[in-house]
Amino acid sequence: MRKRLVVALMGVAAVMLLVFGIPLASFVAKVERERLITALERDAFILAGHAKETLNTSAGSSLPSLQPYIAEHSASKGARVLVTNALGLVVASNDPTLTVGSNFSNRPEVATALTGIPAVGERSSRTLGQRLVFVAVPVFLGDEVLGVVRFSSPQSRIDQEVRDRVLGIVLAGFFTLLVAGALAIPFALGIARPITRLTRRTEKLADGDFSVRADDSSGPPELRELSRSFNVMAGRLGLMVENQKQFAGSVSHQLRTPLTALRLRLEQAQMALGDGSPDAAHAIEASRAETDRLQEMVEQLLALARIEGGTAATVTVDAALIAHSRIEMWDSLASERNVSLTITAPGQALCAGIDGALEQIIDNYIDNALGVAPDDSTIALVVARDASHVSVDVIDEGPGLSEEQRSRAFERFWRGQHTENSPGTGLGLAIVRQLAVASGGTTELLPRSDGQIGLVARVTLTAR
Ligand SMILES: Nc1ncnc2c1ncn2[C@@H]1O[C@H](COP(=O)(O)OP(=O)(O)O)[C@@H](O)[C@H]1O
Ligand SMILES: [Mg+2]
Repeated sequence: MRKRLVVALMGVAAVMLLVFGIPLASFVAKVERERLITALERDAFILAGHAKETLNTSAGSSLPSLQPYIAEHSASKGARVLVTNALGLVVASNDPTLTVGSNFSNRPEVATALTGIPAVGERSSRTLGQRLVFVAVPVFLGDEVLGVVRFSSPQSRIDQEVRDRVLGIVLAGFFTLLVAGALAIPFALGIARPITRLTRRTEKLADGDFSVRADDSSGPPELRELSRSFNVMAGRLGLMVENQKQFAGSVSHQLRTPLTALRLRLEQAQMALGDGSPDAAHAIEASRAETDRLQEMVEQLLALARIEGGTAATVTVDAALIAHSRIEMWDSLASERNVSLTITAPGQALCAGIDGALEQIIDNYIDNALGVAPDDSTIALVVARDASHVSVDVIDEGPGLSEEQRSRAFERFWRGQHTENSPGTGLGLAIVRQLAVASGGTTELLPRSDGQIGLVARVTLTAR
């Protein structure tokens, strides 16, 4: 988060630099080029002013008296300077290799200047073998052209100066980027830290700790606002869960008492009837069974409500150990029904789960399996683990369930046809699913993988 913010801020700075920097650099390059040429032009005109006197008074082919001026105006620019007379013959130059009297009238810019028009431009020079930038200005006396002053500089030199300028801008850009980075880090920290803190609190809330509160007194205003909303939400949620728990508790209490009383009355009625009226006794017996069912349903509904509103934390449990203990618990009941229980499990299978949840889940699965297991069949418990998960399968040899039935079996109150007339509430698997979800796991019903009829009831939890 922090890194991404810094990168984003630097990215924005870089884009801004590119968007503004590229046009700026090309503008600066253009201005700099023009400035250099204008400087050459200005020097050429000044030198032309001096040359006017000399060219006018002296008719000689060489004009050494101009030399100091030439030196003065060309030293800093590194330009090649030459002065011609009206015929285009060189009379003075700062280039010692240039012989006085050389004819320059064939150079286009000199020819143009000799007609009285200053010439500025660039061309390749055959003599020097490179591109030249030149300025040639006429030396006037009245309307008469006495000669030409020409400044020339290799294009590469001008390019170099322009490049230096642009490089300056690029360096300034990099510096800006560095400063942006240095500013971005504390800024990003300032935003990221409180968000990370708030994320931790949200995770705690999601884990069921409703007492958690966010710090709404520091950080950016938007975040303080968010923290305040978080606190209101956490408070409300806590209250709701608390209310639900209280409701579940009191309903449990309120329903249990009359149900127990009802059951007692039915027993009394049965005793009072004696053996006299078998039909009535039968009816009362059936009512007692229904009362038991109602009682179980109330208990299970309350259990569901407790799990759903629950805040129990997960602990580390050993699925192998639990599976063994469940087998022991159910063994006698199973053998009463001529069903054998077997178990396949690793020495240990540690996983996350709410305390007591896996026991209840396996009990429900075995209870269902026993309900449908034919005589002399086997119910197999298989505990398996890999790096990330632990699963417990309860596999029976009963009639199994179709795909559509398997997908509905975890719904509350859903019961299959073959169990419709047996005791039960249709809530067992709903409780199983809630317990698994609260433990951070999943449940599923599958056909047997060996092609035999029967059902595989599976719970999968996170390995620890
Ligand atoms: N091992 C099983 N084999 C076949 N059907 C099953 C099995 N386990 C569950 N069922 C079906 O799923 C229904 C719902 O199960 P459950 O929620 O435990 O409710 P109950 O056991 O009270 O009927 C059962 O009524 C039964 O029809
Ligand atoms: Mg059941």
